[in-house]
Amino acid sequence: MSVKYETREGVAILTLQNPPVNGLGLDTRRGLLEGLTRALDDVTVKAIVVTGGPRAFSGGADIREFGKPEAGMEPTLPTVIAAFERSSKPVIAAIEGLALGGGLELALGMHHRVADKRAQIGLPEVKLGLLPGAGGTQRFPRAVGLETAVNMIVSGTPVPAGKLAATKLFDRVVENDTLGAAIAVANEAAASGALSKVRDWKIEHPNAEGFLGFARTAVAAASANYPAPLKCLEAIEAAVKQPFDKGIDAEREAFALLIQTPESKALRHGFFGERAAGKIADIGPEVALREVKQVGVIGAGTMGGGIAMNFLNAGFPVTLLESNQDALERGLATIRKNYENSAKKGKLTSEQVEQRMGLIVPTLSYDALKDADLIVEAVFEEYSVKQAVFTQLDAVAKQGAILASNTSTLDVDRIAAFTQRPQDVLGMHFFSPANVMKLLEVVRGKATAKDVLATAMALAKQIGKTAVVSGVCDGFIGNRMIEQYSRQAGFLLDEGALPQQVDRAMEKFGFAMGPFRMGDLAGNDIGWAIRKRRYVEKPHMTYSKTADRVAELGRYGQKTGAGWYDYKAGDRTAYPSPIVDELIEKNSKDLGIARRAISDEEIVERLVYALVNEGAYLLEEGIAAKASDIDIVYLAGYGFPIWRGGPMFYADSVGLYNVLAAMRRYAKGHEGQAWEPAPLLVKLAESGNSFNP
Ligand code: NAI
Repeated sequence: MSVKYETREGVAILTLQNPPVNGLGLDTRRGLLEGLTRALDDVTVKAIVVTGGPRAFSGGADIREFGKPEAGMEPTLPTVIAAFERSSKPVIAAIEGLALGGGLELALGMHHRVADKRAQIGLPEVKLGLLPGAGGTQRFPRAVGLETAVNMIVSGTPVPAGKLAATKLFDRVVENDTLGAAIAVANEAAASGALSKVRDWKIEHPNAEGFLGFARTAVAAASANYPAPLKCLEAIEAAVKQPFDKGIDAEREAFALLIQTPESKALRHGFFGERAAGKIADIGPEVALREVKQVGVIGAGTMGGGIAMNFLNAGFPVTLLESNQDALERGLATIRKNYENSAKKGKLTSEQVEQRMGLIVPTLSYDALKDADLIVEAVFEEYSVKQAVFTQLDAVAKQGAILASNTSTLDVDRIAAFTQRPQDVLGMHFFSPANVMKLLEVVRGKATAKDVLATAMALAKQIGKTAVVSGVCDGFIGNRMIEQYSRQAGFLLDEGALPQQVDRAMEKFGFAMGPFRMGDLAGNDIGWAIRKRRYVEKPHMTYSKTADRVAELGRYGQKTGAGWYDYKAGDRTAYPSPIVDELIEKNSKDLGIARRAISDEEIVERLVYALVNEGAYLLEEGIAAKASDIDIVYLAGYGFPIWRGGPMFYADSVGLYNVLAAMRRYAKGHEGQAWEPAPLLVKLAESGNSFNP
């Protein structure tokens, strides 16, 4: 039973029972109407309380039902809400935990609401490119006022019920016994005989027209790539200016329009893709997780410090091991400085800074790691150093400890083979700065045990990361793809483009940063080192030489004050560099290339399709298990525009037939420079299929 029915002294209590968040799936919607009918039929019942228990009133639509026929089957949510609103006996919502989206809309259809002050209240639909489609845009402004409603609906950000205590939304906001308070309100309402309906309330505002005009300008400027926020505003405007039923029609129309937009489809793909990334085909709930209470981090450099902070932030004690006292002290000082900067910005209190610093056990001795349940290594990127570390770990780590490497390019299977326990080894590839970037690639080795992988994925969630599983290969998912993207960017320079044009085109497409500004931020020496290795290991792979020339000049990027661009002290603005422009033009001349005008469209296609093609190889090789995993890597870690859903989803939306045709067009005259379309891409394109089913 998804809705429990009981009565207590003349009050019917309907309890939603659809874990984890009482999603409003078909069964639950039916259960609600059955409960309502039963209560209306029972002459001894004078009022009705609807509750969801302490964890959640309701989180809204049941996401397991998305895209299935059940989602649209009667009774739909608007039908259920209308029935409660029409009820001849007063209905009271008792809200604890959360009331979000459809859950809040349901409560708004009831006659009274009582909430625990900590309950999260919100209408987050805009985050999926939608608007609240079950009356939320009409009833919420009537309940909380125009300005609060605009802010909350347009941003989608929930607030604790306590913050809304002064509005008409809640009859009572309580600190405990929410159900008891709701029953008291039920008795009062039954005694008064009045049935208060939010739909009949007026939206009062001294200057609604003026406020809406201001909001329109602000929303349009802040959400140029998203149609949903303005549609939210238009629907709220209808609530202000039109009778309730007309407003509901406007809301429904806008919802039907938004759900078809590519932006909403992309956002929903990202939302579900992130959840799907945590599901691994051959690992079910029967795989028990290993317990992780104590963490060890080896290396307190750029990455080790950031990695340690992730665990400290989540309350794990971290033993931090370095090879010498100086490096250890430097690492600790950097962590402290990062925390103190957060404290200055008001994100942490000074007690929290000390509490986190207090969780670190600094050490130079491997013995200190003997109790650690998880040890993440972030030492120099060399097999000999990794070997030394893993051999010692093998000797001291307790049985069952998980041994992880943060390597970005080395073979995790080879690292695992340095130990007698390769089943306990895997990669945890963080991105820099590791305490900030959301993405974590969890690298599954040949021998990695299922419970080790599952535990790493669960831990990732605990420390707030978006984790994606990658197989073992050079660069894993993200960096292997980005290399092809960078190569195309380089070839474009040889053929006629300049860094500023390439960056502008990619930023206009929606990337947070174009490839050259990105290079200047990450450090051009890093790519240079990788290419030097490639020249030896993969001599057939060609690159534009411009990046080497730039690096040879010591132009490593922001950190040296010059890279692809010029920088001024204390200013991160990238100024086009005459030196680099000249170097690029000379390079074309040396290659005998007549520079030509290159369109922004060609720039975007060549760079993005380079990602897509490499992504197709990754799928074919089984390095990535599904196309959405690749999309999540790019959305969470590489600044791919989220309203385009990631490279594979974007390719699907362009149509793989078109993508393949473009690749073949660019292949002419660019032999050896990529565009060997991956067989999987050819197969899918020619059979009319897509990467994401
Ligand atoms: P780093 O040079 O900043 O730090 C390495 C630290 O390891 C140094 O403090 C060093 O003293 C210490 N160390 C070296 N050998 C040691 C040993 N035997 N025992 C204990 N400590 C030792 O290097 P970074 O950038 O932090 O890189 C570390 C690892 O993370 C590498 O495998 C790298 O490929 C990987 N990585 C780096 C990223 C980056 O953007 N820098 C991104 C993702 C992964």
